[in-house]
Amino acid sequence: MLSTQPQPTLLWETVSSAATPGASTLAVHGGRRPNPYGAVTEPIVTSAPTVFRDTADLVAFVQARQQGATEQVEYGRYGNPTVREAERRLAALEKAEEALLLASGMAAVTTTVLALAPAGGHIVLTEGVYRRTRQFLADFLPRWGITTTVWAWDTPLEAALRPETALILAETPTNPYLRVLDLEELAATAHRHGILTVVDATFATPINLRPLALGIDLVIHSATKYLGGHHDLLAGVVAGAARLVSQVRDAVGTLGGVCAPQTAAALTRGLRTLGLRIARHNQNGQAVAEFLEGHPAVERVWYPGLPSHPDHDTARRQMKGFGGVVSFTVRGGLEETARFVDALRIPLLAASLGGVESLVTLPALASYYNLSPAERLALGIPDNLVRLSLGIEDTDDLLDDLAQALDTLLA
Ligand SMILES: Cc1ncc(COP(=O)(O)O)c(C=O)c1O
Repeated sequence: MLSTQPQPTLLWETVSSAATPGASTLAVHGGRRPNPYGAVTEPIVTSAPTVFRDTADLVAFVQARQQGATEQVEYGRYGNPTVREAERRLAALEKAEEALLLASGMAAVTTTVLALAPAGGHIVLTEGVYRRTRQFLADFLPRWGITTTVWAWDTPLEAALRPETALILAETPTNPYLRVLDLEELAATAHRHGILTVVDATFATPINLRPLALGIDLVIHSATKYLGGHHDLLAGVVAGAARLVSQVRDAVGTLGGVCAPQTAAALTRGLRTLGLRIARHNQNGQAVAEFLEGHPAVERVWYPGLPSHPDHDTARRQMKGFGGVVSFTVRGGLEETARFVDALRIPLLAASLGGVESLVTLPALASYYNLSPAERLALGIPDNLVRLSLGIEDTDDLLDDLAQALDTLLA
């Protein structure tokens, strides 16, 4: 029989106002709202249009929207209840006023830049950002008169700025060398000059790093990676002040890179276990990095949790954990490196990161295959470089597997 007694206050009703809910609690409950079905999980609303009872209902909606008094939308390109649920949870995790979910990480990057960069403006891009982001800035934006300077980390940032610089677009940690940028310093310099800062923190996740707390204006993630966490969806997110996120949301209404409701529901499902997963990714990353650093068949290891990493101090100051990606060079050339990768039994040979399955990539054979070894080297990609994205498998199994595959290089 259904109870007519008032229901006790549920945790999720208090989480948003609680002083310091932990990141795992926010990942499970943050931003959750009651739904008409009393369902624990969010219903998937697939309808593209919204029905209005009659013209009076339509007029009431239009008036409420003009006054900013409703979150309701009339069409799926402007929003969706299932997508909104994921957005609220992402905003809670980033402790951001607002979050916006898009069709992919690249949709988040391109839409954010197009929404915020003025025609004829100038963008500073930090060194080592994702290849397609670099390509977007180098090949597409000049068509609208927007120019880019790539800032090398070991030079003064202020030297890269111009009077018309509108935006600094950064990424931390970077791929494949996991360089960690001092975001407090970056934000302080940018704001002295009235420049907006956008940071792609895909490799960190809000569990390990919160750029907004360090003064960054907007944070972006490829939710395809750790946030979704299961290698089964593509999505992107941008979070920060409501004023800025709503500019990007308006741009999505025109540019169209919306996230599908089914994808948003899968993402919300993935987010529930984010805290647990990241703890294991961090543990596996650290253990594997330390193991590789001591192995005679390994030349060099890059992992921010190692004291030998150039940005170890910044990472320790800024991050709660160092993630599951470890890059390293093995002793040998392309042939030996390929032999090592083929000998691995647990990591799958696939070009992504951040999911429960460990993945391995050999950058010389993947993104940079069409270049000569010398050209690859000039881009900082030697033929013996391996990138591992450690999943959530048992640490000892991963170490045993790496040991047996590295042994093939010592034979
Ligand atoms: C740091 C970073 N940002 C953005 C992207 C693009 O994300 P998506 O593949 O979801 O479009 C990637 C993809 O690898 C990435 O590694």
